[in-house]
Amino acid sequence: MKTKHFIELEVEQAAQILRQGGLLGIPTETVYGLGANGLDAAAVAHIFEAKGRPQDNPLILHIPDASWLERYCQNIPPAAYALAQRFWPGPLTMILERRAVVPDAVTAGLDTVGMRCPAHPVCRAILQAAGVPVAAPSGNTSGRPSPTSAADMLEDMEGKIDGIVDGGPCQVGVESTIIDLTVQPPRLLRPGGVTLEELRDVLGEVAVDAVVTRLMGAGEHPRAPGMKYRHYAPKAPVTVVQGAPAESARYIQAHLAEGDGVICFAEFLPLFAGYPVESIGPAADQAEQARRVFDALRYFDNTAVKRIWAQGPDPTGIGLAVSNRLNKAAGFQIIEV
Ligand code: TXA
Ligand code: MG
Repeated sequence: MKTKHFIELEVEQAAQILRQGGLLGIPTETVYGLGANGLDAAAVAHIFEAKGRPQDNPLILHIPDASWLERYCQNIPPAAYALAQRFWPGPLTMILERRAVVPDAVTAGLDTVGMRCPAHPVCRAILQAAGVPVAAPSGNTSGRPSPTSAADMLEDMEGKIDGIVDGGPCQVGVESTIIDLTVQPPRLLRPGGVTLEELRDVLGEVAVDAVVTRLMGAGEHPRAPGMKYRHYAPKAPVTVVQGAPAESARYIQAHLAEGDGVICFAEFLPLFAGYPVESIGPAADQAEQARRVFDALRYFDNTAVKRIWAQGPDPTGIGLAVSNRLNKAAGFQIIEV
């Protein structure tokens, strides 16, 4: 298959791919997505094939605005509308009770469905033009870091999808926050662009699922099935060093060996001269860290490093999402200093 490359002006042609049951790379503000018509079970099956994604891992539906929620969900709690009012369009996915119209292929047979209204203007234009809800996981091959540019997505998907729309680099850089509204209190399943602090501001009490902070055991069944997989895993094993930035930098410098690579904050780059090193931005700039973390992980897949050390970011605000992605890449191999 030849993958067509579109620029933002060609929204109508891109939307046509979706309506015809094809696979489309779509830009969103979080990461690039691998989209298909979410009401077309055959099209959705192709997403799983292109990604090599396990069948038990459900997809989320992307919609152009909150008024579409009723079409695909039922018993929608007031909290969903309060969150939509405050954070949509934006990087928040809500887990709600599904209606029967949503194919099992999307939900992996669960009685719930993840709903997201993305903020990227090109993505919104595509959703409007397509006129269907778009099922879209992140546009990476299963097990690789999520793509934050069209080029990153094509590295994994060229020849496997019908087209991709280049909407520029992703402004958030980590995937959407996932909140489960079918349980009381609402439960954070994945930290992302909308922070835990912001969610608590609207909802009051919010529980944090165990998958956010630790590795799931073999017999455990997390509420977000995708969280049990060792996502974002670079080829070389990662060790996260958690602590004050100056301390974690010193620790890594003291333990660094031939063949190791480093993911660090910008101000510590000089300490690692001569080693393969990727900066994720200044220690104090959490938004920049979110934009760069997947790129840093992806970079090392194209090097021969045998081990990667990473400075752990401050896990507050969007830092909780950056920290979670690095910790997952490390299989929760974390050293506290
Ligand atoms: O920012 C994002 O959310 C990106 C962009 C493309 O929108 N999409 C994304 O999709 O990250 P994906 O499939 O890579 O991650 C979705 C996560 C998976 O871990 C999946 O298991 C979980 O959401 N999920 C989907 N439906 C669910 C449901 N009904 N209940 C619990 N978890 C669900
Ligand atoms: Mg993903």
